[in-house]
Amino acid sequence: MFDPSGRRVLITGASSGLGAALAMGLAQQGAVIGLAARRPDRLDAVLAEVRRHSPDSRAWVVDLADLDGIDAFARTAVDDLGGLDVLVNNAGIPKRRWAWNHRPDEIADVLRINVESPIRLTTALLGDLAASNGHAVFIGSVAARLAPPNEAVYSASKAAITAYAEGLRVDLGVAGCPVGVHVVQPGVLATELFELPDNDPSLSDIEPLPPTAIVDAVLGVLASGATEAFVPEWFRDLPAVKAGNLDGFLQGAVEYTTGRIETLGIAPPEPPT
Ligand SMILES: NC(=O)c1ccc[n+]([C@@H]2O[C@H](COP(=O)([O-])OP(=O)(O)OC[C@H]3O[C@@H](n4cnc5c(N)ncnc54)[C@H](OP(=O)(O)O)[C@@H]3O)[C@@H](O)[C@H]2O)c1
Repeated sequence: MFDPSGRRVLITGASSGLGAALAMGLAQQGAVIGLAARRPDRLDAVLAEVRRHSPDSRAWVVDLADLDGIDAFARTAVDDLGGLDVLVNNAGIPKRRWAWNHRPDEIADVLRINVESPIRLTTALLGDLAASNGHAVFIGSVAARLAPPNEAVYSASKAAITAYAEGLRVDLGVAGCPVGVHVVQPGVLATELFELPDNDPSLSDIEPLPPTAIVDAVLGVLASGATEAFVPEWFRDLPAVKAGNLDGFLQGAVEYTTGRIETLGIAPPEPPT
């Protein structure tokens, strides 16, 4: 059982989508929320809703891709919240692009915000989380485990943060440090992630879940202590299927994607030259 009431929860990327939904869901259960993102107008709107349930909640406008600013932001957040019980590393960007078409700048951007930034923020906050027997939660993606089409760099970023979380959990265990570490891997939830510019079209044929589905998944790992959870839960079985027949699984992805491209009537990728 994890009771959110009175817990101080810092959620990055809380101006929209899963972060905003999680902020609302936890505020409704009495958590004090810290919201972080870049868009002030969107943060203000989420904060106003959150404060209806949790008046001590706070928001900070911060670009988490500015790695040099992360330590100072971490200190501000902890000072303003009066400590920290849960960090949810949720801020992230997609990149739908055929593998060989990624520009160098977008490779750097994806790795900075999806990998480097949450590692740096978590490192800056581990002492505070240790002081409260707290938790670090990473919002990954099923892409971390499943090699979806036209998302190779994004998948690499989510696999990297998943591997980091696993390694962190081991290292904290060796040190006897009582901080829980968890990764929640969403499948397809209806957010602005699928409408952001400078991305190829989504090839997914999965019916999106509402963003509120993230709330029970995060509460679930906080309560159970589990390292990893999937949203929806049925994705949990697929990594084992993939590991059991990697070549067959990847060939299946090729055939599925070829069929999707035909169905959608979009141009197949030009081979690299
Ligand atoms: N939706 C899905 O189906 C799905 C599936 C798998 C994984 N995910 C993961 O879920 C997380 C949330 O995504 P979402 O679907 O909720 O999309 P979203 O609505 O686009 O939310 C992304 C959030 O990240 C913030 N963000 C992006 N760059 C940032 C930066 N440099 N500094 C601070 N904040 C930044 C955005 O806020 P600002 O733009 O205001 O900064 C926004 O609040 C991401 O890590 C994503 O990879 C989503």
